[in-house]
Amino acid sequence: MTRGRFITFEGTEGVGKSTQIETARAALASAGVEVLVTREPGGTPMAEAIRELLLTPRDESVNPLTELLLMFAARAQHLHEHILPALDRGCWVLCDRFTDATYAYQGGGRGVPMEQIALLEQLVQGDLRPDHTILLDAPVETGMARARDRSAPDRFEQEKMEFFQRIRDCYRQRAAEQPQRYHIVDATGSLEEVSRQIASLVLSFRH
Ligand code: TMP
Repeated sequence: MTRGRFITFEGTEGVGKSTQIETARAALASAGVEVLVTREPGGTPMAEAIRELLLTPRDESVNPLTELLLMFAARAQHLHEHILPALDRGCWVLCDRFTDATYAYQGGGRGVPMEQIALLEQLVQGDLRPDHTILLDAPVETGMARARDRSAPDRFEQEKMEFFQRIRDCYRQRAAEQPQRYHIVDATGSLEEVSRQIASLVLSFRH
């Protein structure tokens, strides 16, 4: 039995990740690939409860380390109880965000030292890294307008534009450093164009 591929989707707010994950799922399913779609933080009942803790706006200021540890607590549960068993039985996993989001949001956004994130990454994941990471990239202004139209802003969406600019810069820098794993897709194109690129990209991962 060959192990499934682990594919993650990243980007700042409102770049169309959910729509494009559905495009990827449909393209792979019609090619006969067994696919599991999941998300972070979340993906299991306990990890979804941690997500709720993380996203709820609150009066108390949240320490960046608390935020970091909760992200990895949710990830440990999700990875070991849900993602790894699926990959082991040959299923492909499409995950809406993973540890690149921690580097971008907690590292780039909140200023947590990257070495601290790397320590937790090693503790929780060992050597496991995504096989492919698709970065949907768009100027932060475009995405924030879309995200704000959608629903009441969560604790992250309440942040200022500069926060999201740092996150986008961090994602782009990581993508430039790891070109074999990262695939940047320009999310400002038409829905048809972006979907066409995503479908052909994920289908190419079969080879
Ligand atoms: P979502 O809106 O894409 O579902 O993601 C939830 C929020 O959690 C989003 O604002 C990004 C944030 N996040 C982090 O800050 N660090 C992480 O490691 C992950 C997975 C998400």
